[in-house]
Amino acid sequence: MYISKNIESLRYSVIREMSQVAAQYENVISLGIGEPDFHTPAPIIEKAFEDARKGHTHYTHAKGDPQLIEKLSVRLSKDLGKIVPPECIIITHGAMNGLANAFRTLMDPGDEIIVIEPHFPDYLAHITLAHAVPKYVPSGFDKGFLPDPADIEAAITTETKIILINSPNNPTGTVVPKRLLEEISDIAKAHDLCVVSDEVYDRISFEGRAASIYSCPGMENHALVINSFSKTYAMTGWRVGFAYGPQPVIDQMVKVGNYAMACACSVSQRAAIAALDTPDEVIKEMSDTFEQRVELVCSRLEAMPGVRVRRPKGSFYVFADISSITNQSRQFALDLIKEEKVVVVPGYPFGLSCEGCIRIACTINSEQLCEAMDRLERFLAVRRH
Ligand SMILES: Cc1ncc(COP(=O)(O)O)c(C=O)c1O
Repeated sequence: MYISKNIESLRYSVIREMSQVAAQYENVISLGIGEPDFHTPAPIIEKAFEDARKGHTHYTHAKGDPQLIEKLSVRLSKDLGKIVPPECIIITHGAMNGLANAFRTLMDPGDEIIVIEPHFPDYLAHITLAHAVPKYVPSGFDKGFLPDPADIEAAITTETKIILINSPNNPTGTVVPKRLLEEISDIAKAHDLCVVSDEVYDRISFEGRAASIYSCPGMENHALVINSFSKTYAMTGWRVGFAYGPQPVIDQMVKVGNYAMACACSVSQRAAIAALDTPDEVIKEMSDTFEQRVELVCSRLEAMPGVRVRRPKGSFYVFADISSITNQSRQFALDLIKEEKVVVVPGYPFGLSCEGCIRIACTINSEQLCEAMDRLERFLAVRRH
């Protein structure tokens, strides 16, 4: 039977593959998947049950539950300092679906999208599914994983439709400063491009709230923000996210959303309404915990010969440069599982320039993180001798 070459060309997720390899061992510590270890706060779960019993178990509008959209509109307008009307918001099946929808809506086959390395590996799949072409702009350890605007501008061709950014970043934890966001927004406006801004980690940010490119002047006409409830409220399994941007884009995304998923899960959307009432302190507490863990891991890694780290300013990942030890990050990760039962993600899925790196997700408690660092240290010591 024929299978689409486009689909066959997709790689299975390396992050999930590493977890599968580890499943054959006992006493494994996973620093692999980017899944907060906190449980969804109880009031959110209660609201979902309560509203399900009241009958919120039907299809919602493809654009989303009107009450959720209304509440998001108020919240976003307050946070961003500019009005985000309900017409400019769509509810998605997690940020993943928001990205897939955005790429299909904004590009035709053969169109180009500028992707900054290191990048969330799943972008490549969603770009391929949209039959579009990624143009990579490496940032690199020595530049603090921040892209050079001149490199972005140089990558633009007549086929370019999107500049994709992700701040706070997965896998580096880099937060793009406001000044750089302004430079990127100037490029987008000058070339009439859309900036798709993946901000799923915006509340896991260690130096105050990460700035959004949407706040830059005029970007309400040039930015499409992808966000979700997954990381902020420990709601990964509920699968509810949102996107906001120019109304003509959102209007078209409603069609894609309608045909791809009918609507986001109705009960999860009710849970999301309650999530928006979560006190800031609860979110801050989770973010502070991630910060402490990231600090712990960075301090331990900095003391390991041959390992370089840049202290993340957000998210819960540490992207360590191990290139002076090996450039075979896949083999490194497989050996680490086999010898020390620790799962990390090899660098290569995050971009060609990331081969000599590994990603560590700090989504387990400090005790386990310390144990994982002990094991990694031992693994490296054996390799040095
Ligand atoms: C950068 C980035 N964007 C999007 C997603 C997808 O998030 P969601 O669970 O909302 O689909 C993830 C998940 O790990 C991510 O790291």
